[in-house]
Amino acid sequence: MELKKLYDPVAKFYDIEHQDFRSDIPLYLEEARKVKGPVLELASGTGRITLELAKQGIEITGLDISKAMLDVAKEKTSALEPDAQKRITWIHADMRSFDLGRKFSLIFIPFNSFQMLETRADQEACLACVSRHLEKGGRFILSVFAPSYDRIVKRSMFTYLGSHDLPDGSKLSRTESAKYDHVNQMISVEWIYDVVDPQGNLKRTLWRFPVRYLWRFEAELLLEKAGMKVENLYGDYSRREFDHNGSMIFVAAKA
Ligand SMILES: C[S@@+](CC[C@H](N)C(=O)[O-])C[C@H]1O[C@@H](n2cnc3c(N)ncnc32)[C@H](O)[C@@H]1O
Repeated sequence: MELKKLYDPVAKFYDIEHQDFRSDIPLYLEEARKVKGPVLELASGTGRITLELAKQGIEITGLDISKAMLDVAKEKTSALEPDAQKRITWIHADMRSFDLGRKFSLIFIPFNSFQMLETRADQEACLACVSRHLEKGGRFILSVFAPSYDRIVKRSMFTYLGSHDLPDGSKLSRTESAKYDHVNQMISVEWIYDVVDPQGNLKRTLWRFPVRYLWRFEAELLLEKAGMKVENLYGDYSRREFDHNGSMIFVAAKA
């Protein structure tokens, strides 16, 4: 499925599952406060991070390719204080090809979203757009997961990812299957969303998406090629040193 439509069928589930995931927000807020200029979040989804930064006084633009995800973000924006609402701009665009006609002091792509770009051409196109929109000396943060050696060896995994109670008394649960293709550094991910209503009726939604995994120095080279120099690489949002597992959070400066 093309990236534009990919998230539309699951936009309704996104906040139910992710609204309590907040551990990355302080890092983006700290970096935004350091640069003291406008901020751009690419692949901003339902605004999980954008809205929090706007509430804290940051002028921020959120850009996403999925209209359904942006619709959720816009609805949540209307519940903010008027001043916070004014600090947010929403853009419906592709992070591989956007031209906003302005520059930013901080740009970030959080939560593994860059790994939805399947080809090197897509990755380079995206980073070229980032570089063009970054002020000289501005910062770019890229957060991706580090390939897990354990999963790579197993090649295929089936994992239960937990459940949530819905307001109407139904229960939502998600299971993931992942198959690794090491030649192309691709993971074919399938998420199975099961909603069981109070009468026990099951409604299943299958969602498949490709994920491209990246190695540390491959990512560094891509950033350098786009005119950015990596200043720090963290292994988690508390800025722990990278140790090959978990996350790779690159903080790069525009050269
Ligand atoms: C995992 S969600 C992350 C949402 C949000 N940043 C967060 O941290 O909660 C991934 C988002 O990437 C968006 N996305 C995927 N490919 C994109 C592209 N080429 N351009 C812009 N957004 C894209 C999807 O529509 C989806 O909203």
